[in-house]
Amino acid sequence: MPLPDPSFLLARAPVVPVVTVPSVAAGVKLAKALTEGGLPLIEVTLRTPAALDAIAAIAAEVPEAIVGAGTVTRSELIQKSIDAGARFLVSPGCPPALAEALAEAPVPVMPGCATATEAMTLHALGFPVLKLFPAESVGGVGLIKSLAGPLPDLRFCPTGGIGPGNVGTYLAQSNILAVGGSWVAPSEAIALGDWEQIVALAKAAAKLSRAAFP
Ligand code: 3PG
Repeated sequence: MPLPDPSFLLARAPVVPVVTVPSVAAGVKLAKALTEGGLPLIEVTLRTPAALDAIAAIAAEVPEAIVGAGTVTRSELIQKSIDAGARFLVSPGCPPALAEALAEAPVPVMPGCATATEAMTLHALGFPVLKLFPAESVGGVGLIKSLAGPLPDLRFCPTGGIGPGNVGTYLAQSNILAVGGSWVAPSEAIALGDWEQIVALAKAAAKLSRAAFP
């Protein structure tokens, strides 16, 4: 059985905001701002105590959002995320036990890789789309371009160090479906409740074009 494919979700937007929420209320407001700006996919990182409850609140209160869980670093977080309402899962890397548990998840998963060997290992488990992380530090666009030759079936959603200055070069690669990044939801703007700034950043990101979806 093929694993659930994240491609149909990534077709919805060129940028997946990677957000860290200080509270449930901030998470809901952030999701409203991002969707208003045209970015429906939202990766809530499991890095704060509010994260799982924020995923549940976004799923319940912001129907136009497609909320997922990021920073899924341990197998027990898989079911917790899905129970909260996560519609996709993202991990920064993939130790073997976590990769095998993620391959059993009933929702699309983008497991993290940083090398050709990791990409091949995850591909062999059946994952069609991988997160490259931390993208800029491990080779960025050049690495993804190089992997297109030997691994032509694999698609990527790179994150880590991507922002307005370099996002265009990533999205110009045909094996990159979308990118992830925190630049559309800066922590200062979240702390200040500056949702208008986040709407504006999301609008600019939503307009970006990409080679994978001409
Ligand atoms: C992360 O998991 O922190 C993401 O990759 C976001 O990286 P960024 O903050 O460099 O966009």
